[in-house]
Amino acid sequence: MTKPITGFSKLTKKEKIEWIATHYTQHPESTKEILFKYWNTDVQLQQLHDEFIENTISNFYLPLGVAPNFLINEKLLAIPMVIEESSVVAAASKAAKFWLDRGGFKTTILGTEKIGQVHFMYTGDFSILRDFFTDVYPKIITDSASLTKNMEKRGGGITNIELRDQTDKLDHYYQLHCTFETIDAMGANFINSCLEQFASTFKREAQNFEPFSKEEKNIEVVMSILSNYTPNCLVKAEVSCPVEELTLSNEISPKEFAEKMVRAIAIAKAEPHRAVTHNKGIMNGIDAVVLATGNDFRAIEAGVHAYASKDGRYTSLTHAKIENDVFTFWIEIPLALGTIGGLTNLHPLVKLAFEILQKPTAKELMQIVAVAGLAQNFGAVSSLVTTGIQEGHMKMHLLNILNQLGATEAEKKEIIRYFKTNTVTHSSVLEVYNRIKN
Ligand code: MEV
Repeated sequence: MTKPITGFSKLTKKEKIEWIATHYTQHPESTKEILFKYWNTDVQLQQLHDEFIENTISNFYLPLGVAPNFLINEKLLAIPMVIEESSVVAAASKAAKFWLDRGGFKTTILGTEKIGQVHFMYTGDFSILRDFFTDVYPKIITDSASLTKNMEKRGGGITNIELRDQTDKLDHYYQLHCTFETIDAMGANFINSCLEQFASTFKREAQNFEPFSKEEKNIEVVMSILSNYTPNCLVKAEVSCPVEELTLSNEISPKEFAEKMVRAIAIAKAEPHRAVTHNKGIMNGIDAVVLATGNDFRAIEAGVHAYASKDGRYTSLTHAKIENDVFTFWIEIPLALGTIGGLTNLHPLVKLAFEILQKPTAKELMQIVAVAGLAQNFGAVSSLVTTGIQEGHMKMHLLNILNQLGATEAEKKEIIRYFKTNTVTHSSVLEVYNRIKN
C-alpha cells in the first residue's frame, strides 16, 4: 500500500507527477506522457494556470463552443459555452434561432442583493443583546470603512445589518444577517472580508459593554461567511409568441405542442423526480455560460437548487402558460454573478468570452445566463414532448462513439452520411463501422 506523503505541495511539478505516476498508476510512463501532453507550450500561460490552484499537474480541457443568434432585449449576441455534453450547444443554438424570428428573449432584473452572515452563540437575555447591537452598529460601520470605500465609490457597499434571533432553530443561536450591493463583482471576497471585520468589532465591543454579565461578554462567534442562497439577486427571462407560430414539429400541431409544453412544465412543478431532471437541463445552459465567464458554478448550482425548493418542495424553475392564444415561457432564477474580480481578469479565454458577449455588466450577464437556461430548457422539453431526446442526442454523440472506436476521418464521413437517415444506437454504429472496416 502507498504510504502517506508529507510536504507534497513543496515538490516541483515534475516531482509531483513522478510521485503520482509511480504510486497510483499502472503505467507511469504513459501517465507522464498524457499529463505533459496537456501542458501548454506557452510557459507563461501554463504558469498562470499552475498558479490558479495548489498541486497543479496538468490542464483539463473542456470544449468552448458558441451558440449564435440570441436576441436578448433587441441585442443580438453569440453566447460562449463551456460544456462536454454533446447536444447542449446545438440545442441552445436551435432554440435561439427559433425565438429570433419570434421577437427574441425579454429579460428583467428583479434584484441584486447579496447576503452574508455572522453566526454566533449567546446565552443571555435577548433584550440586552438588542441594546448591544444598537450600540455597536455604528462602530461596525466605521471599522469596515476602509474595506467598503472602493465598493462605495462604485455605488455599492453594505445595505443592511440585522440582528436575528435564531433560537427557535438552535439553542443560543443568533446571527448578524447582512446584505450587500456588490455592483459588477460577485462579491465573495468583499463580503467575507466585511463579515470578518464585523465579527471582530462585535466581539471586541462585547467585552466593553457594561450591561452584559461576565458570561454574556463572551459571545462566541462561530463563523462569518457569505450565503450562496441569494433569493433577492434575481432575474427573469421570457419568450412568447402566438400559439400558431409554434411550428416546431411535423407530427403535432402548434396548439398540441403548446399544450404539451404547458403540461410538461406542470409535471415538473408537481413532481420532484421530474423537477430535478428538468432543472438539470436548465443548468446545462446556465453552467456552460457561468464556466465560460469564469464564475463559480458551484455557488450558482447551490443557490439555484435552494431557490427551487424555497416553498418547501423542490419544483420547476421554468413556467409556461397559454393565454388568449399566446404561449409564454419564462424562468425566474437567482444568479449572483460577477464580471470583474476572480478569474474574470486573469483567464485569457474568460476575457475573450466577455469580449464576445460585448463586455456585459454583472446585471447584463445575469440576463444572458438566465436566457441560456431558458433556451436550453425550451430545447430539451420541446424535444421530449415531440421526438424524444435520444434522436438529437445520439446524432450529436455519434462523433464520440466514432472517436472511441478510432475511426479515420474518411470512415467518420461515411458513417455520418449513413446515420443522416438512420437511427443512431451504440450497436448500430458498431455494426456499420465493422462493415466499413471489413
Ligand atoms: C440532459 O442533459 C438534460 C435533459 O434530461 C433535461 C430534461 O429532461 O428536461 C434532457
